[in-house]
Amino acid sequence: MKAVHVLNGPNLNLLGAREPEIYGAATLPAIEARLSAVCARHGLSLRFRQTNHEGDLVTWVQEAGLAGEPVILNAGAYTHTSIALQDAIKGAKTKVIEVHLSNVHARERFRHHSYISPVAQGVIQGFGALSYDLALEALLVGAKAIES
Ligand code: DQA
Repeated sequence: MKAVHVLNGPNLNLLGAREPEIYGAATLPAIEARLSAVCARHGLSLRFRQTNHEGDLVTWVQEAGLAGEPVILNAGAYTHTSIALQDAIKGAKTKVIEVHLSNVHARERFRHHSYISPVAQGVIQGFGALSYDLALEALLVGAKAIES
């Protein structure tokens, strides 16, 4: 594993200001800075991106797949709607960990269904910004387990 891709979907650029009672006070750049430091300690590069457009997420998942590099994906509301993203993950020969800041199962019914979960390696949700750190930790522990 050379790089880790962290892909963020719609409205996550507003983290910190957007419904902080649900999503917390951490901003996306603050999350990126923390993950970047962890990746650097492990000799990995971090590709951390955000978009409000579904097709960008599809393209970025494809890119990570072609490179054989793992993805931590918070698809935002596209989690609940995007067959295109599910297809992209199915076609990508790499691991995808689904993350959410909030526990979507404790929220509105329309958030209970995820198109990502059936094709993800695992799902981490409900820990606020820490969900991202835990997903990265899962990748790192997983990579170590494979090496040893
Ligand atoms: C989210 C949960 C989604 O339901 C919502 O649309 C988001 C953020 C989360 O991180 O908790 O935009 O993915």
